[in-house]
Amino acid sequence: MNLTGREVVLGVTGGIAAYKSAEIVSRLRHLGAHVHVIMTKNATEFVSPLTFRTLSANPVVTDTFAAPEYWNVEHVALAKLAEVFVVAPATANILAKMAAGIADDMLSTTLLATKAPILVAPAMNTGMWTAPATRENIRILRERGVRMIGPDSGMLACGDEGAGRMSEPEAIVEEIGRILTGGKDYAGKRVLVTAGATRERLDPVRFLTNDSSGKMGFAIAQAARDRGADVTVVYGSVSVPLPEGVRLIPVESATDLMDTMMKKCPDQDVIIQAAAVADYRPEIRESEKIKKKGGDRLVLSLVQNPDVARAVGEIRKPGQTLVGFAAETEHLYDNARRKLDSKNLDMIVANDVTLPGAGFNTDTNIAALITRDGTEELPIQTKRKLADRILDEIIRLRKKDQSASD
Ligand code: CTP
Repeated sequence: MNLTGREVVLGVTGGIAAYKSAEIVSRLRHLGAHVHVIMTKNATEFVSPLTFRTLSANPVVTDTFAAPEYWNVEHVALAKLAEVFVVAPATANILAKMAAGIADDMLSTTLLATKAPILVAPAMNTGMWTAPATRENIRILRERGVRMIGPDSGMLACGDEGAGRMSEPEAIVEEIGRILTGGKDYAGKRVLVTAGATRERLDPVRFLTNDSSGKMGFAIAQAARDRGADVTVVYGSVSVPLPEGVRLIPVESATDLMDTMMKKCPDQDVIIQAAAVADYRPEIRESEKIKKKGGDRLVLSLVQNPDVARAVGEIRKPGQTLVGFAAETEHLYDNARRKLDSKNLDMIVANDVTLPGAGFNTDTNIAALITRDGTEELPIQTKRKLADRILDEIIRLRKKDQSASD
């Protein structure tokens, strides 16, 4: 990524994650960007302005009443100069001020005045992040086109565990780069993603399912959307909020998924199957609730479900790119490579779900990308970051395909 001469304004607010913003500045500078830092008064309690001044090689603005370091009224000057305006970390307080249009210090004033795209990286205690007021502020800001990255989940400085950690500087810088460079490498592409778990009904109130939360599939859908794709998400049972700005098709069982995929797949460019599909379903789906019968044992008879990915592979159209997932607990690479061939896929994202930080219902994943060109083992990373990596790899495969058919 080359950001030579691009103007980035970084607002730093008062949270413990403020120290991580120093890395954002140095990474941006490394890529050639000009960085201008505005700190709130509280932020200066966590990190000295000198740190940011040294790293950015620019004056650091801390409040409206200091002698102006810029040629113009500062808040207007920086608001106009910004090609992208980043707030990292963004506390609940600055989000509330932005939503309400409050301008009572240099940062909030400049934010109100800017016309540049705004990216916020929230960081706060889980209770504050989930508070109704914050939820509402986030909704308002999203509606106005403010972009969000994170927060990630994990151990927080206050000792609580949950959502609230600021995204990693590397991910924030990548997102800044995407905003600045347009980042729309999927414009005009139709991408279909499957996500979540299927439910195989036993009776009107019971079903067989699995631990899939939908997080990985949704992260891919959001990344593809942000990169300009026209995205369709076919999702089963999920435990996380649905992505916005995509076409959503709910399904319940593997058979429903099959029907939907047979209809929707032919006109897609890229199909990514992250859903955890049940291999078996109850042979009989009772129309009434199953009652306790005599004896201490109930035997369920299961029959095999169709393999949706294989069926999609059989009807693939020229120019389509097909990606599957393989969640394994043993012989990861052998099993995944076998699935690459048997399902006629271009890539398998293989992960060992027994590793901590990988697999179902986590915010991170440890995966390997398996293609016919080889295997690339990736380090532990957020699902969003992995999603972008998968999309990068798909672009590479498509370019290769294209040049082979030219
Ligand atoms: N898949 C599918 N239909 C199924 C089972 C799996 O479409 N009935 C898809 C999944 O969405 C995933 C890929 O196939 O993209 C691999 O899923 P996985 O459960 O790992 O593999 P299986 O083919 O079920 O093989 P096994 O159960 O033997 O590991």
